[in-house]
Amino acid sequence: MKPFLTGLALLCLTGLCAAAAPNGTFMDELDLSPIRQGWGEPQAKQSVAKRPLTLGGKTYERGVGLHAPGTFYIELDGSASRFSALTGVDGGVGDRGTVTVTIFADGAKVFDSGVMRGGGAPMKIDFPLSGVRSLTFSIGDAGDKNTFDHLDLADAFFETAGEAPKVVNRPPEEPYLLTPPPPAEPRINGPRVFGVTPGAPFIYRIPTTGERPMRFAADGLPEGLALDADTGIITGTIASGDKRPWDVTLRAENAKGKAERPFRIVVGDTLALTPPMGWNHWYAHYDRITDAMMREAADIMVATGMADAGYMYVNIDDCWMNAPKHKDPMRVGPARDENGVLLANAHFPDMRGLTDYIHAKGLRAGTYISPGPLTCAGFTGSYQHEAQDAKTFSDWGFDFLKYDWCSYGDIARKEKGDEAEKLKKPYRQMSALLREQERDIVFNLCQYGMGDVWTWGEEVGGHCWRTAGDLGFELNVYHAVARKNAEHHPYARPGAWNDPDYLQIGFVGDARVTGEPTPCPLTPSEQYSYMSLWCLMAAPLFYSGDMTQLDEFTLNVLCNPEVIEIDQDTLGKQGYPVHVDGEREVWTKPLEDGSIAVGLFNTGEASQDMAFSWEEAGLSGKYRLRDLWRQKDLGTFEGSFAAGTLPRHGVMLLRAWPEK
Ligand code: GLA
Repeated sequence: MKPFLTGLALLCLTGLCAAAAPNGTFMDELDLSPIRQGWGEPQAKQSVAKRPLTLGGKTYERGVGLHAPGTFYIELDGSASRFSALTGVDGGVGDRGTVTVTIFADGAKVFDSGVMRGGGAPMKIDFPLSGVRSLTFSIGDAGDKNTFDHLDLADAFFETAGEAPKVVNRPPEEPYLLTPPPPAEPRINGPRVFGVTPGAPFIYRIPTTGERPMRFAADGLPEGLALDADTGIITGTIASGDKRPWDVTLRAENAKGKAERPFRIVVGDTLALTPPMGWNHWYAHYDRITDAMMREAADIMVATGMADAGYMYVNIDDCWMNAPKHKDPMRVGPARDENGVLLANAHFPDMRGLTDYIHAKGLRAGTYISPGPLTCAGFTGSYQHEAQDAKTFSDWGFDFLKYDWCSYGDIARKEKGDEAEKLKKPYRQMSALLREQERDIVFNLCQYGMGDVWTWGEEVGGHCWRTAGDLGFELNVYHAVARKNAEHHPYARPGAWNDPDYLQIGFVGDARVTGEPTPCPLTPSEQYSYMSLWCLMAAPLFYSGDMTQLDEFTLNVLCNPEVIEIDQDTLGKQGYPVHVDGEREVWTKPLEDGSIAVGLFNTGEASQDMAFSWEEAGLSGKYRLRDLWRQKDLGTFEGSFAAGTLPRHGVMLLRAWPEK
């Protein structure tokens, strides 16, 4: 342990101090850079407006200026004995600004300022820290706008004998596993309904957990489809003209037991009858993606059991084409051949070979392009080659296309006409072209929610649409992004899904710098909450972390079939919050069998006892409850349910069946 000498201690060593000043560290001596909340940068020794720190008419030499709202955390080594500071709204804003400060020590509230107003008297903060390992500073805007909400922590000082405190962007939390390993007996997972158009190649690997070897069977398969009994992969083509639902029974058997499950294949015009699930390379590999990495991701999807839980699309994002300029010479080259046919870059020498490889595993392949001349990362776009590209994607064997607005903005700006129509035009055009192809290609609109895309995404032929900008830029507010996405719940239905962006858990690369994958900045509890929210929202479930670094914890979050079943429910309703108060949220989602999924979230900064009432959740009478993360029946309840203590930002996800 490195002894930490502070300014005061140094003064003492040089004989200049009068009384023995306590050893310790001023907050302004700490590296404040982890405090990044999308609000004003914290300032050491000055107010956030970069003027002297002033409180109650007095100027302070030491301290930190911050802007509300936001939360930051301080890690301690247990040797600190006290924290003290003066706090209030900085004098620079006069009598404007309202701020709250709440501080938690190892989850227990130790200071609560209540609403502090500009011009008010500063408040003294002073509490013991013996044995404390983690402090949470939660700064609020007092419920009004955050203009002028400049907060000072003047003379903020940690008395400590050991290591200097460390500012971190999340409190430490050890990973914990909620879900038991899958049983050895077969369990068939995945959607209960699947859409296919007549005449299109069909491929489906029956997602099944349990010991291998396993034998599969399927009763009532439509003519034209065949099942490989060893792999459980169904392939073939259903004769054109045969539009109707087929009620199939899937069966699996191994040395330990058997399972069966109904599976309805709907031959018709609608794809993505449940939210699509898979992996997308973006948040792990950015412009480093190669053919070999895509193949490896497909291998891992099967080897880790992700495919057994229902993940099936293996999708390339941007950067597989050529760019006019790029630091990697293998990604620079001609956009198209002499006939205008789109070219992949040298990292993708054989696109058809790649999709064949993915299909041979019973999985599906996805790709990406922009309707503009260039993609968001500056690679070839489809502009003025749309029909050719739609055919190329189908010829190459792709089953999914993400169509990303990017540079199309410049084209749209120059066009005359109705603004709303201009947003729809490229999507309408490409979806019509995709429907002309031999393959079924799920169409993913990516235009960040412009023009309330949720109100017309389905009309222009989209199967799912991003409702906001890139979540990678604001991962710290994933929960707020979810609440926003949930507002669009009336528009979600089978074949038409609101997409709040990918699952960024496990190892992901920071989107702000398109970094190499590192452990995700969310706590384990937050990662369970993230997955729960996405399932309650019937969101497309695309994992976008590094497949080669999937650990036991990340797989535990990604692969619980009972949790995924909430997302994949046949009714196709999107859940939303029915209670939100800054400390606790209750979300519900109605399900096809008459049961209801209930998510109980601790959104507060400390662990707390949590409960919900029937009234809040819209329930009445007796319900049988099951804890989906732990896969445990809880019993029958009426009126309310007490979940016990949930950790900070933790969740309990329940399924409630009405008792007859
Ligand atoms: C946009 C999209 C992202 C990703 C990148 C690729 O930012 O929103 O999801 O596809 O482009 O450049």
